[in-house]
Amino acid sequence: MADHPSGNRSEGEPREEWRTRWGFLFAAVGSAVGLGNMWRFSYLAAEKGGAGFVALYLLFTILLGLPVMLAELTIGRGARRGPISALAHYGGQGWRWLGAIFVAAGFLILSYYGVIGGWTLRYAVEAATIGFAPDAGAHFGDVASGFDSLGTQILFMIITIAVVSGGIGAGIERLARIAMPGLFLIMIGIALYAATLEGASDGYAYYLNFDLEKALAIDVVVAAAGQAFFSLSLGMGAILTFASYLPRDSDVARETAVISFADFGVAFVAGLMVFPLIFALGMQGEISGGTIGALFVALPKAFESMGGAGRIVGGAFFVALVVGALTSAISLLEVIVSAAMDAFGWERRRAALVGGVAVTLAGVWPAFRIDILDLADSVATNLFLVGGGLGIAIFVGWVMDDPIAEASVGSARSGVHTVWRILLRYVVPITLIFILWNSLPETWAKIVGVFGSG
Ligand code: TRP
Repeated sequence: MADHPSGNRSEGEPREEWRTRWGFLFAAVGSAVGLGNMWRFSYLAAEKGGAGFVALYLLFTILLGLPVMLAELTIGRGARRGPISALAHYGGQGWRWLGAIFVAAGFLILSYYGVIGGWTLRYAVEAATIGFAPDAGAHFGDVASGFDSLGTQILFMIITIAVVSGGIGAGIERLARIAMPGLFLIMIGIALYAATLEGASDGYAYYLNFDLEKALAIDVVVAAAGQAFFSLSLGMGAILTFASYLPRDSDVARETAVISFADFGVAFVAGLMVFPLIFALGMQGEISGGTIGALFVALPKAFESMGGAGRIVGGAFFVALVVGALTSAISLLEVIVSAAMDAFGWERRRAALVGGVAVTLAGVWPAFRIDILDLADSVATNLFLVGGGLGIAIFVGWVMDDPIAEASVGSARSGVHTVWRILLRYVVPITLIFILWNSLPETWAKIVGVFGSG
């Protein structure tokens, strides 16, 4: 194998694999389920008017998410390489750039994701030790940006690097198998508890009463599509990379369905805990602005006003958030790590350390400036993920040789595959070009807002 010139990784070493099917599924669902489902989903649902946004998000999960997920799983499992070499494997060297954009997107997302992950870590620890601050807004202002934020970001990244260094089976899979069932139980428990609160029904009404007019605003459409990609971890090769450790006979069509519906289910349940809690405790004013801090201000306020029960429920809530954030951050770092292992022949530990430290350094900026964090999130989602999804759809729909044959290894070739190809060739690209085009003004406005018009 001449493509490992530095020879750090011994030649012919077998590729790592998931130990069990369930281990893979928990890890992939762990990647998908994260801050996107809880923090990002709830603040967008609040900002974009509730149920209309939720309905569009479900529509895009099915129409765009399912086909792109199957495309990523197919490429990854077939190529058994990280994103850059996987695209070269099926499309020729000229396609490496798309893989490089994926790795850059992962780098960008993880740089600010680690900052938010750090916030969740702090809130979980505070709930267990000193309780929620009486003035949640001021507290968030104190800890969200600056050295506090940097400190918790570094801590969060150290844990992420440690797990990824452990490898696929012993690190990532082992954590996901314990952590994900715990997260599900906590979320269902809190959603049931929230249902018992007086005034919860206003929260459900806000969350679930569909208003067609609101849903058809272009900014709602754009946000829902971006959210579908972000939440499913699509558009930058994360699912592709996890699939590269799958055995060849796994059923990628079935796994696509399991991962996507688990992810939507968790986002939906997150809404069932967040909105009733917030409305029952009269905190709706705090989220109506739909700012990045909504979850970190409105919910702690609600928990604080609940007294002792609030410490327990709130503590459990933030523990679930830490788990979700961590298993997602791991998948983002794994993209960078697998690409570095392929490209430089580095061994895993070295790639995790070098890649992780570089991302942490890039995160200093968003750790100090929340407007930079917000901007990075918009650019990453609306440009990189939506653009990356477009790239994958075109690649598998038009460039790759006989994708249906590859996708149906391990499962029966069926009508589903024909529909899949049509979606990838026409429906997904046209929809994504429309979304991309319409998101440009908003992203541009944010850039101007942060850097000034000069
Ligand atoms: N999906 C995760 C979330 O909802 C975030 C995430 C992990 C992600 N890996 C990704 C987003 C890859 C985009 C691409 O929080």
